[in-house]
Amino acid sequence: MMNTTDLSDIPSIALLPLPVANQIAAGEVIERPASVVKELLENSVDAGADHIDIEIEKGGVGLIRIRDNGCGIRATELELAVSRHATNKIRTLTDLEQLHSLGFRGEALASIASVSQFAMHSRFYSAEHGYSLLLNTFSQIPTIEPVPHPVGTTVEVRELFYNTPARRKFLRAEKTEFGHIQEVVKRLALSRFNVSFTLQHHAKTVLTLKKTTDEASRLLRIGQLCGTEFMQNALTVQYENQMIRLSGWISPPSYARGQADQQYFFVNGRVVRDKLVSHAIRAAYQDVLYSGRHPCYVLYLEIAPHEVDVNVHPTKHEVRFVQQGWIHHFLASSLQQTLGQTRPSNSVNIADHLDNTATTFARPHLDNRPSPQYQPALAIAPTPELTVQESQQFYQVLHQAKLQTTTETQAPPESVIPPLGYARAQLHGIFIIAENAQGLVLVDMHAAHERITYERMKTAWETHRLTAQYLLVPVTVFISETDADQLDTFHETLLRLGFEITRAGRESLLVRQVPQLLIQADIALLVQALLSDLIRFGSSAVLDTHIHEIFATMACHHSVRANRQLSLSEMNALLRDMEATERSNQCNHGRPTWVQLSLKELDSLFLRGR
Ligand SMILES: Nc1ncnc2c1ncn2[C@@H]1O[C@H](COP(=O)(O)OP(=O)(O)OP(=O)(O)O)[C@@H](O)[C@H]1O
Ligand SMILES: [Mg+2]
Repeated sequence: MMNTTDLSDIPSIALLPLPVANQIAAGEVIERPASVVKELLENSVDAGADHIDIEIEKGGVGLIRIRDNGCGIRATELELAVSRHATNKIRTLTDLEQLHSLGFRGEALASIASVSQFAMHSRFYSAEHGYSLLLNTFSQIPTIEPVPHPVGTTVEVRELFYNTPARRKFLRAEKTEFGHIQEVVKRLALSRFNVSFTLQHHAKTVLTLKKTTDEASRLLRIGQLCGTEFMQNALTVQYENQMIRLSGWISPPSYARGQADQQYFFVNGRVVRDKLVSHAIRAAYQDVLYSGRHPCYVLYLEIAPHEVDVNVHPTKHEVRFVQQGWIHHFLASSLQQTLGQTRPSNSVNIADHLDNTATTFARPHLDNRPSPQYQPALAIAPTPELTVQESQQFYQVLHQAKLQTTTETQAPPESVIPPLGYARAQLHGIFIIAENAQGLVLVDMHAAHERITYERMKTAWETHRLTAQYLLVPVTVFISETDADQLDTFHETLLRLGFEITRAGRESLLVRQVPQLLIQADIALLVQALLSDLIRFGSSAVLDTHIHEIFATMACHHSVRANRQLSLSEMNALLRDMEATERSNQCNHGRPTWVQLSLKELDSLFLRGR
């Protein structure tokens, strides 16, 4: 087993015994230039490099040159390194159970060398100078010569697929191939924060990543690779127990994307695409994501190597977990917990870790907020001269004046203003306008109320506290005769949900009892919608499989309808409920329930401070 931190004990490269070689998932590992880059970068990382330079020409078909400052290769082993099944990372199959390196098949260099004009220069860390290996393109016979070279390795791959025209034909445009290479570099850079990288295309530097040492610089790298928008909005994930550790960043539902392209999952430092993993993540987002949207994530799972089989696929993109059910549960529930925190709060945004980037990251303190839907048409480029603090001081005067005249809500001093602030008015019977420490808050009453009811129903159901309440006056509901005929089928189910409904006539039902949580709903509409759900889902096991959808329907019918006038105290009660409810930043369909417009944003609307 290779231990790259202990240089004095670097194992020699040896051919794997045939039975071992035969059991290793083998196959064509080099599909396109990006596959070469992936393999070479992995070798550099395995060699303990902490700086890697990547030079590309013609999208990788012309040249791929990767230079690292790792431990280097012994001159006597250069030839072996490019032979099939030669590796210093494992000796036996059982070594795979404690694998700490990315490579283990001893295949990559041999595969690359067989489809390119290949050269490798390397100086072993304790050697006086370097050696180069050139492979004759016809005979593949190597020549090895001393060359000046710093400690580390440079691999040069030219004219990729020159001898396999069929594969070359399948390559896309230079730009596309280079795009794939960038993606490979990005993945590795996301998994190795302690390595610095440069990437050049046609001698032009396209990416420079410094080594990161602390949380702030790690976040900067995330921002550089995944966009500052993601980094500013991301929720930090951190769970661990004795068996497993999950860390990283996920997007709040409000920052989901149209494509599933910003999704990175690393298992023990190896990027993987795994159905189980994506299923678990989708499950965590299930009722907070607008349909058809995809979450973004960069997540790291660390687990004992014997709990995961990496020898499943030649490209090592897939893994198999020994305890699949447990992993699924761990992922889904940890992420659900993180997402459960997406409610208005005064917690610190991760962007606040970054101290030297005041202009880019000047944001309200509110965490995980949906980005304001309202984008001023007059986008004011320069930062207003008035700082937020100055604006606040200015507004303080108005605020104080108003406090003296406001009688209905006595807003306490700013330091204890709740995250969503205090309601000031209702707009068109749809929105609540509230004022908090940062500025203006707009709340979609119906969406917010719907989420609160939904979460309450789920909790009540899970804790067996979904209690029923008799209606003072039973309500008659009219439905079609065919639907009414099905009432008996759902008798049990309805009782469990807290409804007592009997047949009243050919096309009518009588509702005597409803769940206490829904007592304010329009009962007739609620029951009609509920029955249509039950009929649609069918009778068997409907409560096991569709309970959340049923709750969603009920929550929707219970929620404050547009045009209902609320008093200030009712509005404030709703704001406080939102702060206390998990996932209340989004309605059940994943739409935001509220947006913040900071004083700074308001200022810029009025061109103030310019
Ligand atoms: N950049 C490098 N620095 C130091 N040693 C290297 C480097 N690249 C390759 N080697 C040595 O050459 C050997 C063969 O590399 P190769 O990539 O073919 O196989 P591997 O990394 O062992 O397994 P895999 O096929 O899974 O990548 C490695 O085991 C390693 O000892
Ligand atoms: Mg390798």
